[in-house]
Amino acid sequence: MIVTESRANEIKAASKDYPSITLDERGLCDLELLAVGGFSPLKTFMGQNDYLSVLQNMRLANGTLWPLPVTLPVDPSSGLEVGKPLALRDVYGNLVGLLHVQEIYPIEKPLEAASAYGTHDPLHPSVAYLNRSSGHYCSGPLEVIRVPPHYDFVSLRRTPAELREHFEKLGWSKIVAFQTSAYMFRPHEEPARNAASQIGAGLLIQPVVGTTKPGDVDHYTRIRSYKALAETAFEPGQCVLSLLPLTTRMAGPRDALLGSIISRNFGCTHFMVGPDHSSPGLDSNGKPFYSPLAAQEFLKSNQDEIGVRPIGYTPWVYLPDLDQFASPDDIPAGSKTADISADQVRDDYLARGIPLPDWFCRPAVASILSEISPPKNRQGLTIWFTGLSGSGKSTIAHGLVERLAEYGRNVAFLDGDEIRTHLSKGLGFSKEDRDTNIHRVGYVAGLLAAQGGTTICSVVSPYRAPRDHARKLSRGHFVEIFCDTPIDICETRDVKGLYAKARAAVADGKGLGFTGVDDPYEPPLNPEVTLNTSRLGVPECVDVIVGKLKELGYITD
Ligand code: ADX
Repeated sequence: MIVTESRANEIKAASKDYPSITLDERGLCDLELLAVGGFSPLKTFMGQNDYLSVLQNMRLANGTLWPLPVTLPVDPSSGLEVGKPLALRDVYGNLVGLLHVQEIYPIEKPLEAASAYGTHDPLHPSVAYLNRSSGHYCSGPLEVIRVPPHYDFVSLRRTPAELREHFEKLGWSKIVAFQTSAYMFRPHEEPARNAASQIGAGLLIQPVVGTTKPGDVDHYTRIRSYKALAETAFEPGQCVLSLLPLTTRMAGPRDALLGSIISRNFGCTHFMVGPDHSSPGLDSNGKPFYSPLAAQEFLKSNQDEIGVRPIGYTPWVYLPDLDQFASPDDIPAGSKTADISADQVRDDYLARGIPLPDWFCRPAVASILSEISPPKNRQGLTIWFTGLSGSGKSTIAHGLVERLAEYGRNVAFLDGDEIRTHLSKGLGFSKEDRDTNIHRVGYVAGLLAAQGGTTICSVVSPYRAPRDHARKLSRGHFVEIFCDTPIDICETRDVKGLYAKARAAVADGKGLGFTGVDDPYEPPLNPEVTLNTSRLGVPECVDVIVGKLKELGYITD
């Protein structure tokens, strides 16, 4: 239940004295569905009776069919108590709800894993989540202050009541729900269109989208792709698109059942279920967690009780000679067929920025998806110079900044000395401070890389672990340049006179912790480029790097 504004103000004023917890993405999605009626008849996170009953009988304690726990994990040592309100917050500290705690009860981990997910295998995402959870759930009446605010695609987010009203306006009495968390290509679009038209129903495309992480390009692209599909592949009034804020449990058949219950709450009468519905992939033995048709069979046997008819389907197949799609059961004997597998979509098309062919994917969708992974020469990149002080990093990096402009790569330059006057002002040269410094530089470069930017970092970065961490933050689009200049050469250069100072300090028995003198330098194990600046001049070094960047596809002539 979402409270009135005056009650919300009351709760906000009082909440400072209440213990509070931060909801994770799943908690926030669950809270939203509880608040708007998507999980009806549930109104709050499950208490122990419902929880155990769902695990033992797949029913709530009152006998209503319900497949999966909707529960709130808590750490009892964090100050919450039965009888005390618990403030629920999002990661930004916003108060989103108040739970009047009536029960704190132990999680039955082995039972939940076996009953709800059918496995104890930690490769199952819900088992892994369960294993990470603290040992208790809590429950009680819930007052929702506001559903987590969404700023993206607001017009595509309808509550069950709003969606039902919209269906009524459209004059739809039968509605086929197509819930999906994957891109929707023609092999799925065609059976969905066909199923709806066969029974004279409208089609609801209901993409499952969790809470958005700011800047998560893939999330926005996915929704843009559904929007383009709904607008270009269907006649007006044939199809409605509405986002579903659900964190799926990847529990195959039981997820399908939860999906149908949710679809009923949103006003649907039919539910499309394909092979491998909500499948978490392969288990530790390389076998599927659920058999491909398990979800379809499971829904069939429960359809009367839910009141939603399942429509099982298999993706359709393209017949190039006829330029049309057909259900695998209706392929004329001897016909030529064509298909593109999910792996091929990912590796042969999206990863290379190659648009998918029109017969497989609507052109408006293909052009949006081709932006996800532009060709390598338009992808974000971090070029990381590491090496001793005086090894030539910054001089070569400057040269590289200018050369890269020739190839249309505009570069942000993070130079160690400058970073230490702004971003890392106040940090010294202890191991801890250097790690912090490198984490900051890697973090900024990673943010820029995620948005398609190019950053050149020039920092001593003497320790391997933070450099490797920086590589991860740039999601592997990382070229490490090791300036492998012998220390005696660096020392003879000694532009800032720091080596002399460091040697003198060591001679005095004090020590400065200077890299290469009395603090270690851990050379990279697999740098993309190694330069010995005592043998190569700056222009040659820049040439070597440019050659490597071309070879890796990050720049093209
Ligand atoms: S890092 O270790 O955190 O990567 P960073 O690249 O920011 O170092 O700064 C290194 C620069 O600071 C060197 O080029 C040198 O001029 C100066 N410096 C001052 N003290 C030290 C020290 N103890 N070790 C290494 N460089 C130092």
